[in-house]
Amino acid sequence: MSESPDTILSVRGLEAGYSEENVLHGVSIDVPTGAIVAIIGPNGCGKSTLLKTIYGLVGVRRGEVVFRDRDGQRRGLAGLPPHAITRLGLNMVPQLANVFPDMSVRENLEIGAFINHGKFEHQLERVLATFPALKIALGKRAATLSGGQRQMLGIARALISDPRLLILDEPSAGLAPAMVDEVFARVKAINVEGVSVLMVEQKARQCLALSDYGYVLDMGQNRMHGTGEQLLNDREVIEAYLGSRGRLDLAALKKTIER
Ligand SMILES: Nc1ncnc2c1ncn2[C@@H]1O[C@H](COP(=O)(O)OP(=O)(O)OP(=O)(O)O)[C@@H](O)[C@H]1O
Ligand SMILES: [Mg+2]
Repeated sequence: MSESPDTILSVRGLEAGYSEENVLHGVSIDVPTGAIVAIIGPNGCGKSTLLKTIYGLVGVRRGEVVFRDRDGQRRGLAGLPPHAITRLGLNMVPQLANVFPDMSVRENLEIGAFINHGKFEHQLERVLATFPALKIALGKRAATLSGGQRQMLGIARALISDPRLLILDEPSAGLAPAMVDEVFARVKAINVEGVSVLMVEQKARQCLALSDYGYVLDMGQNRMHGTGEQLLNDREVIEAYLGSRGRLDLAALKKTIER
């Protein structure tokens, strides 16, 4: 795969892991600028490890992660710590959105800001326009929020740093179906505002329906890739990764997204 000039993130031949054995065995993905890209695959295949390696939480052993920063410069991310990567314009919400339960919603959002105070207020206004439910909860302790509201707060906190690329690890995990639709609708809204998105999801059908492009990982390797629609309709993907039951109501999802 060669990189095109409008690619915001390009991962090539990535190898990484926790013990001496690698979890990722040469993974390659591209995120076109402005796109939503989905990563799906079985439990334990290395999806979270891939995201953590891109964001500097797990070391790169081999291969490269190249990000186009706020100034349009191509930057190798290997070896950089997460806060430096955030400054370049890439932020991540981890698999279990960790909010600080004893802090207020506003304090949680302030922690997301690697920016000066004036810019924080401006960003806060933008982010609260996307997440109006947080506006009325600004003074509340994060511990008092529902699971869905916490997930929204986790995403909002990442957005405060004004990322060009947002990485989400299973944003719908553990949420009631109506809340899942809401989270996907917010992700779409964020993308429409100009933020590229790379997301891992277990709700693979719903996620692929929303995504411009998708990758299937298996055992730490690329298995398949294509447009969201191609993967949704691929017989092998359906049988191995999507299951034949519980078909997605695409019309209903589209309505949710367009709200
Ligand atoms: N912190 C860690 N220390 C050691 N091994 C880990 C650690 N995190 C993950 N692993 C191992 O790495 C492999 C890949 O895990 P990873 O979390 O990347 O999978 P995943 O595809 O995100 O799975 P899931 O769908 O369950 O979230 C698994 O075998 C897992 O046990
Ligand atoms: Mg995971």
